[in-house]
Amino acid sequence: MNIFVTGGAGFIGSHTVLQLLREGHDVAVLDNLCNSSEESLKRVKELSGKEAKLYVGDILDRELLDRICDENDFDCCIHFAGLKAVGESVEKPWEYYNNNITGTLNLLDSLRKHNMKNFIFSSSATVYGDPAMIPITEECPKGQCTNPYGWTKSMIEQILMDMAKADKEWNIVILRYFNPIGADPSGRIGENPKGIPNNLMPYVTQVAVGKLERLGVFGDDYDTPDGTGVRDYIHVSDLADGHIKALKKIKEKAGLCIYNLGTGNGVSVLELVRSFEKANGITIPYDIKPRRAGDIAMCYADASKAKRELGWEAKHDIVDMCRDSWNWQSNNPNGYDR
Ligand SMILES: NC(=O)c1ccc[n+]([C@@H]2O[C@H](COP(=O)([O-])OP(=O)(O)OC[C@H]3O[C@@H](n4cnc5c(N)ncnc54)[C@H](O)[C@@H]3O)[C@@H](O)[C@H]2O)c1
Repeated sequence: MNIFVTGGAGFIGSHTVLQLLREGHDVAVLDNLCNSSEESLKRVKELSGKEAKLYVGDILDRELLDRICDENDFDCCIHFAGLKAVGESVEKPWEYYNNNITGTLNLLDSLRKHNMKNFIFSSSATVYGDPAMIPITEECPKGQCTNPYGWTKSMIEQILMDMAKADKEWNIVILRYFNPIGADPSGRIGENPKGIPNNLMPYVTQVAVGKLERLGVFGDDYDTPDGTGVRDYIHVSDLADGHIKALKKIKEKAGLCIYNLGTGNGVSVLELVRSFEKANGITIPYDIKPRRAGDIAMCYADASKAKRELGWEAKHDIVDMCRDSWNWQSNNPNGYDR
């Protein structure tokens, strides 16, 4: 298939582009490189032996979107492009709503004008808010998001649902990711956060590599087995594979479908730290700090719908994720910056 990937130079995007090229698909990427580097796609080329076409530009640029759709005959669009830093979204709500929502509306408009109505969207478990049930099934009602980033995902989902209802030609797969970590086992591509990382694993690897001194663990008094927050960490290569499986669903022309992509296993902050130490033989010094506003105690998936309907399930365990995250960080202490 000929696939249009927005945000394809980013963390999840680059791993997905790699898998798409390996599966023999043609790929065109649109990315403004605001949180990524062209280097990721150069390395994808080196790993796959194939090249994705790259348009450096913005989903806010409607003329560019129209030109890209004129120049290519896409079978499906996988939409990763978006701003994703939770804390920053609280500081800059307008920028987040504009980039993520206006950008998505522009993209959908260009696609429909070109009669390209197959769409896969990167959503997030954050749409469940403080989840009404654990493990979380797709039937779990969406909740109150605690930050503008989460609301952009929740609102875009609603837009997609309403568009699919109004126009039966749309085939849309909404993928709700749990907590992607890990890296391609080659250690050539991985997560490249700018500034101090927001998320646990990049923080752990930067402590391990000596860029940060100690890990802060936010809260040890949650109602969880060891008091620290429990999440469903998923290897980014498994996540990428979920998109390949979703393409098969798109071909079935099934209308709008929603899937959780997680492992179904809850892992606490301290369990992740211990797994990292054991997998890599490195000690991670940490301090317990007060709870962080907006964090919830527990969040893990029931991923059985994706298994049943897409034939997808996570293959990598937490040890693989810890090993591959460290392999990437230790080989690229400054990410893609030389
Ligand atoms: N990483 C996570 O924990 C996580 C969890 C759930 C959902 N998601 C979603 O998955 C998607 C990919 O996440 P990621 O972790 O790979 O993030 P990322 O920041 O590495 O990738 C996003 C890419 O989009 C690009 N981009 C942003 N705004 C753009 C714009 N206006 N025009 C063109 N390109 C633009 C960035 O340069 C970047 O390359 C995002 O939509 C994110 O919200 C991520």
